[in-house]
Amino acid sequence: MCGIIGYIGQKKISPILINGLKKLEYRGYDSAGICVLENGGLTIIKKTGRIEELAKSPELKNVNGAIGIAHTRWATHGEPNEQNAHPHLDCEQKIAIVHNGIIENYQALRELLIKEGHKISSETDSEVLAHLIEKFYKGDLLKAVKETLALVDGAYGMAVIHKDQDKIVVARKGSPLIIGVGEGEMFVASDVPAILEHTKKVIYLNDDEIAVIGQNDYQITNLAGEKLDNKIEEIKWSVEQMEKKGYKHFMLKEIFEQPESISNTLRGRIKDGKIKLSIDFDIKEIKKIVITACGTSWHSALIGKYLLESIAEISTEVDYASEFRYRQPIVTKNDLAIVISQSGETADTLAALREAKQRGAKSLGIINVVGSTISREVDSGIYLHAGPEIGVASTKAFTSQVVALLLLTLYIRQEKGIALDKELLEDLADIPEKIDQALHRAEEVKEIAQKFKDIKNFLYLGRGLNFPVALEGALKLKEISYIHAEGYPAAEIKHGPIALIDENMPVVFIATKNSLSEKIISNMEEVKARQGVVIALVSDSDERIEKIADYIIKVPEVRNELSAIVNSIPLQLLAYYIADLRGLDVDKPRNLAKSVTVE
Ligand code: M6R
Repeated sequence: MCGIIGYIGQKKISPILINGLKKLEYRGYDSAGICVLENGGLTIIKKTGRIEELAKSPELKNVNGAIGIAHTRWATHGEPNEQNAHPHLDCEQKIAIVHNGIIENYQALRELLIKEGHKISSETDSEVLAHLIEKFYKGDLLKAVKETLALVDGAYGMAVIHKDQDKIVVARKGSPLIIGVGEGEMFVASDVPAILEHTKKVIYLNDDEIAVIGQNDYQITNLAGEKLDNKIEEIKWSVEQMEKKGYKHFMLKEIFEQPESISNTLRGRIKDGKIKLSIDFDIKEIKKIVITACGTSWHSALIGKYLLESIAEISTEVDYASEFRYRQPIVTKNDLAIVISQSGETADTLAALREAKQRGAKSLGIINVVGSTISREVDSGIYLHAGPEIGVASTKAFTSQVVALLLLTLYIRQEKGIALDKELLEDLADIPEKIDQALHRAEEVKEIAQKFKDIKNFLYLGRGLNFPVALEGALKLKEISYIHAEGYPAAEIKHGPIALIDENMPVVFIATKNSLSEKIISNMEEVKARQGVVIALVSDSDERIEKIADYIIKVPEVRNELSAIVNSIPLQLLAYYIADLRGLDVDKPRNLAKSVTVE
């Protein structure tokens, strides 16, 4: 977690650093700081809380220098306060570092440094980096950073400046870092949005790479000192795509963007009744699929399992990436490991990918962020093309993941030589229109949100494909509204959760028409018989459930294979409106970060 930006050039530095940090706030936001080289010394300003606190600080106005680094923090070691905020300095205040990641052996390094007389002033793991660089510095900053990294175990994306050097040294292992190439100015950042208003030319650093960045040049080497020639990539996303476009929150904007984001996921991938994907290995030889992911992406993986097993007729397992990586999974060279990640940077998902690859599996990523670490490590991939997702709660990436999984499912079926259902292809191509119809009912969902905004607990129930939809609906609600919510397979409630049912526990049933409709109606009756309050998500044409449920949310009728996509829309809206009506910071919920780059 955490966001880094650095600048070297002739423009006024503080707005560049502060605006860059604001664009990175999704990576963490419990404290922030900047350090600028000016008048032969380092000026440092740090504040607890959001970037806005730092932006308001009066000292910032007088800052004037050509080189600076800045950081927004998401605490891992030491509570969020000014002392623990980055940048961190060495004893003599000549060196400043910002760091994203975790230094696993920091305790041992800290003890060593203290024995040698260094005064460590924070509780963070990161501060040891500044002191180690101080220990090794003999006039060559790059050399000192390399010697430091040789002692460090763990993950880092880091940027370092020294008061006597007109350069920024950056290094990466396990935490993302990019270099932005401008005209007579250079940038470094954890992610593209931080620098996009200044340049679209970006270089992605890989693990174990170090770069020395000057105002007009840069040099990238590996840890052995060999020069590297990473190519400059042109970013296609516009600054405007990153803005809220008049919506109150990014999350709402992203919910309403789904007809477009899904069209983008589909674009060029269904042609003449065939699925077009570029996959570099022979997918029909795959015997088993294992999907790993975290959070919302794990929910789309569960939907993928239903699709892959029923349509592509291939055995599929789904695992939390954080569990997969530490057990002894049975994965062989005949298997395909699919990793799903919006950010492409989730630490557990990346580790699960590496574990599966090490066991010989082929790998395939379903990723949104182009150029992200996972996207570069998989054998093949399907980019979502959903556009930047800024709200911490994932919405449009989720529906695009489900669409990508369905495309992959159909592709595998096609490659195995089994005929595709032409109507399913047509209906899939029509899905953006159905999403649009579902979004037109936002006001009705808002009225229901108004009624339930003060409730303390919710239950979400669904069966088949709609069980993961229930899980996702519950996750959306809890992460942004702080209301306790649980998702369950509807039939399971009699094995325990039914004991919770009373008039204070609303139950959201995902009950759109499918082969299990009769069964879910029985589950609904069971809840009603115990004075439960039922909010039912039903297909347009369904009138039976209206007689049983207390509240109805209608969605356009689609075939079962596509229902998870459409049904997710009102659940995203319900969570959004409840959180907003409670007056909460929807885009930046407490304790969360958009991209979880620590395990
Ligand atoms: O970037 P990823 O898809 O790998 O992120 C995985 C989870 O951290 C993410 O989906 C998280 O659960 C979201 N906050 C859900 O809205």
